[in-house]
Amino acid sequence: MPSGFLGAILSGVLYEKIIRPVIFATCPDAETAHERGMRALGLLNRHAPLARAVAARAVVRDARLERTVMGLRFPNPVGLAGGFDKNAVAPRAFEALGFGFIEIGTVTRHPQPGNPRPRVFRFPKDEAIVNRFGFNNDGAEIMACRLAATGPLGIPLGISLGKSKITPLEEAAEDYLFSLRALHDFGDYFAVNVSSPNTPNLRALQDGEALDALLLALVAETRARAAHGSTNATPKPIVVKVAPDLTLSALDEVLAVCAARGVAGIVATNTTLAREGLSRPTTEEGGLSGRPLTQRSREMVAHIAKHAPGLALIGVGGIMTPDDAARMLDAGAQLVQVYTGFVYRGPFFARDINRHLLQTAG
Ligand SMILES: Cc1cc2nc3c(=O)[nH]c(=O)nc-3n(C[C@H](O)[C@H](O)[C@H](O)COP(=O)(O)O)c2cc1C
Repeated sequence: MPSGFLGAILSGVLYEKIIRPVIFATCPDAETAHERGMRALGLLNRHAPLARAVAARAVVRDARLERTVMGLRFPNPVGLAGGFDKNAVAPRAFEALGFGFIEIGTVTRHPQPGNPRPRVFRFPKDEAIVNRFGFNNDGAEIMACRLAATGPLGIPLGISLGKSKITPLEEAAEDYLFSLRALHDFGDYFAVNVSSPNTPNLRALQDGEALDALLLALVAETRARAAHGSTNATPKPIVVKVAPDLTLSALDEVLAVCAARGVAGIVATNTTLAREGLSRPTTEEGGLSGRPLTQRSREMVAHIAKHAPGLALIGVGGIMTPDDAARMLDAGAQLVQVYTGFVYRGPFFARDINRHLLQTAG
């Protein structure tokens, strides 16, 4: 492997100055670019020697980066956020790129196509994305087969669970439970996605009673599984992903229900329905992510850290530079995740964040 060539590819500057502009120019549809990127990552996923060569340059190993959160050991605190690898086609590739954990999905009980295309829009000047995918995915059973074939990873694997579009809200718990049961053996933790703006009424599941019923069912299932498993097995952690559009008092209610029901942690935040931070107006519907979300997500993380110190906290939203990640951790998150920053900064963003964290750790 010519190290000069690989070294050049690994350079964030090359990505931002040449590769990204070429991708954006030749692929005006952001989803097509994503599909091409995922095909390349799928190749890396399947090609162990290539993955090892990339990992040798991208994985930052240092005891100061390690975290134990929710009883799980993370080699570093930088994760891939939900929605990037919706169908678990490239988990090993993300491990090779230096992520400390990945959250696959969001997966639903029923396979579903999502909303009509186009449904993803870039705002390069603002380092933002608007998407209204609507949980397009292959369904929980296919994902389980894929994960069985993949085998265990060296980093924690989170699985994000959502509600199928055809399932009425009143039957949501059964829908999530089906996916949890199908995927229980493969995930290290499960993220309950009740905060996507792109499935009609999904966010109503953040409301007190509905959330209570849903979490009661899911936590009971993980406890029952642990009780029937090997002796002293602890239940697999459930975390809840929240919207940045919640008022602080609504957020407090969510936190109270989570704590009461034995939820292990919170992922804050999903995309926003707000449109502040865009330099050109848009009528595209969907959730906004990236730079416009940085401050709001950080504020919510700080609020959760202060008011629910017993819950683990994964900070996500607008981490566009390594320093943004450091500030999210400073705000009280134990772990961080990136999505839009990975698109704008390139494949070695996790490595760059980890290096920065080590530099600032002294
Ligand atoms: C195109 C796109 C698709 C997404 N799909 C999902 C998803 O399926 N499940 C989920 O929990 N979050 C999803 N998200 C939200 C991200 O995981 C993340 O919470 C949000 O984008 C904020 O982080 P960021 O600013 O780093 O992108 C998606 C985000 C984007 C941009």
